[in-house]
Amino acid sequence: MVDRNSTDKLDEIIRLKREKNAVILAHYYTVDEVQAAADFVGDSLALSQQAAATDAKIILFAGVRFMAETAKILSPDKKVLIPDLLAGCSLADSCRAEDLAAMKRRYPDHRVVAYVNTSVEVKALTDICCTSSNAVRIVSALPAGERIIFAPDRNLGDYVRRKTGRDMVLWDGACHVHESFSPERIQLVRGQYPGAKVVAHPECPASVLAEADFVGSTAEILSFCERDASKEFIVVTEPGILYELRRRCPEKSFLTIPANMSGGCNFCEYMKMVSLDKMIECLRNETPVVEIDEDIRKKAEGSIRAMLDLS
Ligand code: 13P
Ligand code: SF4
Repeated sequence: MVDRNSTDKLDEIIRLKREKNAVILAHYYTVDEVQAAADFVGDSLALSQQAAATDAKIILFAGVRFMAETAKILSPDKKVLIPDLLAGCSLADSCRAEDLAAMKRRYPDHRVVAYVNTSVEVKALTDICCTSSNAVRIVSALPAGERIIFAPDRNLGDYVRRKTGRDMVLWDGACHVHESFSPERIQLVRGQYPGAKVVAHPECPASVLAEADFVGSTAEILSFCERDASKEFIVVTEPGILYELRRRCPEKSFLTIPANMSGGCNFCEYMKMVSLDKMIECLRNETPVVEIDEDIRKKAEGSIRAMLDLS
C-alpha cells in the first residue's frame, strides 16, 4: 500500500528525476512505495538488462549493492546511485573472492558459473554469471562434459544440478531469507488453504521446493500466478513481491509463510533499507555513488556480458 504521506515524496522524486535525467530501477523485494516510485521494477536479470540499455545520465538503483554494482559494471560512464551503501546481501557475503580463488585452484579444469548475487571481485573470477531465471539455461548451454563450480547459492546450484544432470561442485552459501522457510510451515498453511498453489523461489532448500507446485525466479512466479487459473497462492519467497502480484492479479489471493510461530514474515532487511526519504536525498545530493576499480570492472564485465548474450 502506498499511503498519502508517500504521495508528496513520490511527486518530489518525479521532479528530481526529470531535473537530473535519472532512471529509477527497483527490485520486487523493495517496499511498496519504492516500487511505486520506480520507472522499472524487475527481477535481477531484467534489471541488469535495463541497466545495460538505459540512456539516462543517472541510474538510481533501488535495491541491494550487488545489483547497483552490476549496473555500474555494465554502464561505467553513467553515475550509479544507491540509496544506502549498507544494503548488502547475506548470499553475496557468503562467498569471498579469495576463498573462490582457492576453490578454483582445487578444481583447475572447472568453469565457474556464479549467481549475480556476488561481489564485483567474485564476478571478476567468474566465467559466466547467471540469475535465478536463466541458471538452468546457462548451465545447459555449456559444452557437454564441461565440469562446473557453481557459486554461491547451494540451493539454486542443487536445483540446477537436478534439472540439468551436469557435473557441478557447489559453493556452500545461502540466502538467509529463503533458508528460513520450512516444509512443515508450508504444510501448515496448505492445510488451511487446500485449494491454493504453492509457488517457491529456487533459493529455497530442496525440502521446501519439494512442496511447491511451481518453482521459479520472482519474474517467473509473477507470470505463473498471472496465467494459472487458481485463485489462491502460497508465496514462498520474500514478501515484497506481493505488491506486484496484487497489482497484476487483483482478483486473486496471495498468502505468505510466517517465518516463525509468532507470525513474523521472511523479510530481506537489506532490500527494506531503501526508502523514499533516502531516494530523495540520494537524487538531491547525487550520492552515495557506486565506484568500482576499472581493472576489476573490466574483468567482471566479461562474465555478465557472457550471461546477457545467452539470455
Ligand atoms: P531474482 O530477482 O532473480 O528472482 O532473485 C531474487 C533475489 O534474491 C534477489 O536478491
Ligand atoms: Fe540477498 Fe537474500 Fe536479500 Fe536477495 S533476498 S538480496 S539473496 S539476502
